[in-house]
Amino acid sequence: MEPMPQIVAHGTLDYAELASLGLSPDEVHVFSSNINPYGPPPAVVQAVQAAVKPTTISRYPDRLAMELRRAVARLHQVPEEAVLAGNGTADIMWLIALLFAPDARVAIVSPTFGEYENVASLVDAQVIQPCHPGWERREDGRYTPGATTLDELGEALAEQTPRLIFLCNPNNPTGHHLSPDELERLHSFAPESIWVVDEAYAEFTPTPWSASRWIDQGDWIILRSMTKDFSLAGLRVGYAVGSPHLIQAMQVAQPPWNVNTLAQIAGTTALDNLAWRAETTARLRQETEALRQALQAAGMAPLPTSTNFFLLPVEDATQVRQALVQQRILVRDCTSFGLPNYIRIATQRPEENRLLVEALQALQGDAS
Ligand SMILES: Cc1ncc(COP(=O)(O)O)c(C=O)c1O
Repeated sequence: MEPMPQIVAHGTLDYAELASLGLSPDEVHVFSSNINPYGPPPAVVQAVQAAVKPTTISRYPDRLAMELRRAVARLHQVPEEAVLAGNGTADIMWLIALLFAPDARVAIVSPTFGEYENVASLVDAQVIQPCHPGWERREDGRYTPGATTLDELGEALAEQTPRLIFLCNPNNPTGHHLSPDELERLHSFAPESIWVVDEAYAEFTPTPWSASRWIDQGDWIILRSMTKDFSLAGLRVGYAVGSPHLIQAMQVAQPPWNVNTLAQIAGTTALDNLAWRAETTARLRQETEALRQALQAAGMAPLPTSTNFFLLPVEDATQVRQALVQQRILVRDCTSFGLPNYIRIATQRPEENRLLVEALQALQGDAS
């Protein structure tokens, strides 16, 4: 008998698991999904509240999401035809796979976000997984910090000539951020491929930048989730900025009306509140450093990061996650990334961060 297909593991709340533990989402401390804990911006909440009225609910949304796309086009300084709105960026990944990956060779620079492999496999792509710089893949499929260089990754891409390349920058779960020079160099090894660069976490870094500057020089699709930095995960909104012929093909194939009216309003208002994002992400960077230092002081060895989450080496990630769930603390078990000896921690507010450090310290004490 064929094995039952499994849903891809993510760090988001597992409502079935919470129900089995008799917990509601408000009763847990969520370090497992990488959402800005200070959001959403108050102006977004007000705009959405003001829009909740019978006409907004009963009318179809603007299927071209014109206002939102106009705001994105202004921000990235690209024409509106280069922008597609999505019901989150996971939605756009499905569209990319459907249009460009069937039976094609698809490179997924790994270890990384699991949805790329999921969408590519479901359309029978031939998936290859070259390694991120600074990591190595072992024979058993696990990843360890290692000596892979940027040029070695480039050479692997040049050799395989994939139609599509998925690159997460900064990368989930490692937190590593390639600079414009590094990505430009990498692109030169495979200039004919369609490069999908997922920038879900770019705005959390000290030096945010976007590959959207290159959409006229090759085939690029840049993904920007608004669910993380603006904290809009429940409403679902994100966008792609890309080479116009790719964006046009995606616009035609996208299911109609899939970005709902409230999500469009939330997205447009959020882009009017860039100062809020800059201020909260700067605060989070300081708190991430403080949390890493507190863990180090407690004898742990968190990995460096450029963003709002980081990896922490542990004996057995599944066991650590289970032990913390009992204390209503959720962390990401990284086994599904090929990292069974790491948990991923997304920085929360200082009082929650303190709880996590204490809980991890107590676990260390239990183990010794
Ligand atoms: C790298 C990365 N890209 C995209 C997503 C999905 O984002 P969205 O909520 O925009 O679908 C996630 C969610 O965890 C992610 O980690």
